[in-house]
Amino acid sequence: MVTAKTQDKNKELIELDHKFVNPVLARQAPIVAERGEGSYLYDVNGDKYLDFTTGIAVNNIGHCHPKVVEAVREQVGKLMHTSVCTHHTGYIELCQKIASLMPGDLNSVFLANSGAECVEGAVKLARYVTGRPAVVTFRGGFHGRTHLCMSLTTSKLSYRDMYEPLQPAIFTVPFPYVFRSDFPNDPKKVLENCLHEIEMLFLQIVNPKQVAAFIVEPILGEGGYVVPPEGFFKALRKICDEHGIMLIMDEVQTGFGRTGKMFATEWEGIVPDILTMAKGIAAGMPLSGFASRKEYTSKWDAGRHGTTFGGNPVSCAAALASIKVIEEEKLCDRAHKAGTDIMNRLKKLAETHKQIGDVRGRGMMIGIEFNDEHGHPGKDWSEKVAKRCFENKLLVLTCGYKGHVIRLIPPLNASDNEIDEALKIIENAVSEK
Ligand SMILES: Cc1ncc(COP(=O)(O)O)c(C=O)c1O
Repeated sequence: MVTAKTQDKNKELIELDHKFVNPVLARQAPIVAERGEGSYLYDVNGDKYLDFTTGIAVNNIGHCHPKVVEAVREQVGKLMHTSVCTHHTGYIELCQKIASLMPGDLNSVFLANSGAECVEGAVKLARYVTGRPAVVTFRGGFHGRTHLCMSLTTSKLSYRDMYEPLQPAIFTVPFPYVFRSDFPNDPKKVLENCLHEIEMLFLQIVNPKQVAAFIVEPILGEGGYVVPPEGFFKALRKICDEHGIMLIMDEVQTGFGRTGKMFATEWEGIVPDILTMAKGIAAGMPLSGFASRKEYTSKWDAGRHGTTFGGNPVSCAAALASIKVIEEEKLCDRAHKAGTDIMNRLKKLAETHKQIGDVRGRGMMIGIEFNDEHGHPGKDWSEKVAKRCFENKLLVLTCGYKGHVIRLIPPLNASDNEIDEALKIIENAVSEK
């Protein structure tokens, strides 16, 4: 029960927040979080929320997993920072671990702090090694908010608008977004059209010999949790090989078990040239990285890229502990199985609720796309459903160019009961008029 007195605590703090925090930082839920445990967040009133946002796909093993908390506590007492002034054990061990998890021979790793930073690093590597300026991105992609990253980003206008001039030599082609295409029942045709656009880009706009890299998410994240048709990445790999272009897979949101494999690229049977990772890497501690082939990184002269805080000892300790939990608790398999069950239940719901246009995803990365009465993006519905979920103590996020997709990003170790509780809330929220 929320009492009048406790309700004031959230309100009081949010009033202070409005006074002192730069308002550009938009927050979703109007609560002040105080504590997290497993799949739940507790606000300053002591109210408990089932958290299917996981801090935007970060708390993949739930909040404050005891094994990570223990590893962080131990590391804080030993060594918190040395930067590039020395080597440190956690950095070396973590890079070795990440290399062992990578597809193919991506065994040379750089650690940074955020998703945007690892994307920046990946593009710098590609440009440096190929000596080419251009980068090709996909419409609907999100790669971060720094100047380079927002120039690569087309998931929503508000990430780019008013920040011109953006970086030059960045070209965007359509992502095969089957549901919102002219051929929603023909994924092959949508893929063909997308490949044709790439062909035309190279014939009309940019010489492929000037292209350093393609950058692409295995599943569009901010862009609407869109899974591309089968064969997309194999075709991209082939185009890259033909023209000596690097393929960067941006796994910032899809990595670390989220899609039912340690990295979503594994579903595709290809090896990129660079793979970026962040979010789920360290259970909430700030850390990111990118892995590439030694063949390329050995051409990147020492000192040409660097960071003060990237790969700090505490974040590395958290990452090593968190990856161990994902492996020991078999959370990839869990995400695959539970995610499939969730999607099946939501697809059943869609059969009787025509406002749900599409249910899709992989593992525990699930999108529910809403339609209005004309079959156009149904933002009113996604907002209504998200609000009702919040009122019933379930936290969910939206995504998509109109915010018309609800994304479910539960902890990979959410229990069957917690998942059932969340789905009942969603079913009721969708069913209410
Ligand atoms: C695929 C992808 N790349 C890059 C980023 C940027 O990450 P950050 O917000 O940590 O800079 C995000 C963040 O949502 C992302 O989803």
